[in-house]
Amino acid sequence: MTAKELMAEAVRARKRAYAPYSRFPVGAALLARDGRVFHGCNVENASYGLAICAERNAVWQAVASGVKEFSAIAVTARDGRGAPPCGSCRQVLHEFAPHAWVYWRDARGRILRRRVGELLPNAFRLEELRGR
Ligand code: THU
Repeated sequence: MTAKELMAEAVRARKRAYAPYSRFPVGAALLARDGRVFHGCNVENASYGLAICAERNAVWQAVASGVKEFSAIAVTARDGRGAPPCGSCRQVLHEFAPHAWVYWRDARGRILRRRVGELLPNAFRLEELRGR
């Protein structure tokens, strides 16, 4: 699946966002190594701090379905534009897929790409810190 195709899936996922407080709907499409695509959207709450981002929602969907190997994630916010994942989502993506590609779009709609590990250098990894 191409970056453009995965981005089209993220656009579909964004339509299900629940973002009445920020009015900033976000969609994510997570490509598993087996070719499956998991959608995620942000889901907010009247208790603002409980909001969950689209990217983490996509990871939870995949893991709850028994899938933990990923090759890419596409993220979109606003029509034709993107947003790179927030710091918390980078940490969660790094747990499972430090080498996965992250796709988002610049203000002109061009797809940008970086590896998860590039977006979160020196990530916190418990196994390494424990010296295993
Ligand atoms: N949001 C995401 O879904 N992903 C990100 O990477 C950054 C922020 C959501 C959270 C909140 O619902 C809204 O965008 C505004 O911060």
